[in-house]
Amino acid sequence: MNILAPSVLGADFARLGEQIRETRDGGAAYLHLDVMDGAFVPSISFGMPVISAVRSCSDQVFDVHMMVQEPGRYVEAIKAAGADLICVHQEACTHLDRTIHQIKEAGLKAGVALNPATPVSVLDCILDLPDMFLLMSVNPGFGGQKFIPYTLEKIRCLREKLNARGLVTDIEVDGGITLENVQQVLDAGANVMVVGSAVFKGDARKNTQAFMEKMR
Ligand code: DX5
Ligand code: ZN
Repeated sequence: MNILAPSVLGADFARLGEQIRETRDGGAAYLHLDVMDGAFVPSISFGMPVISAVRSCSDQVFDVHMMVQEPGRYVEAIKAAGADLICVHQEACTHLDRTIHQIKEAGLKAGVALNPATPVSVLDCILDLPDMFLLMSVNPGFGGQKFIPYTLEKIRCLREKLNARGLVTDIEVDGGITLENVQQVLDAGANVMVVGSAVFKGDARKNTQAFMEKMR
């Protein structure tokens, strides 16, 4: 199933609740929430208080992307804030296997993310553990960047690895996705599209509907 996950980072924070409702009304099943610590990535975004505040605006699946060093430290707090899925970076976890289990034992879905320059081969040992893989198609930290074309080959490679093992795990792609390139990303084998600017610039409801139409 193809899923759209509008990224809150692209929203107008002065009208956050309203904009989130527009994406829900447009048909987006997920909401992507980027937590940044100013250490793993250069920027700082938002954390638990914002996630719990917007939880009341939406029944979407809350897909929390932790761009944070050692995110295992925050699993319980992010769960309490309202996350359904916690995605951690392979590059940020000293004990990735432990962190994945920690998230699953908390009763949440677990995702593992990779930066553009990290090869998918680092996932070989844990391929059957996560509920989702997140391949970054920009260097994480900021919205509004350009899609990095070589990441398409990483999507194909990961989908092949999963198929070879009989796994139907979701592959999410994050960064620089537009109405113009989304088909290429789907064709490469990904099924969860994170979209910030291209949803929230302009009419979020209409833009969401336009993506849903393309992704059918
Ligand atoms: C970037 C974030 C993304 C970002 C995507 O570090 O992880 O989720 O909001 O924004 P766009 O779609 O504008 O590239
Ligand atoms: Zn993200």
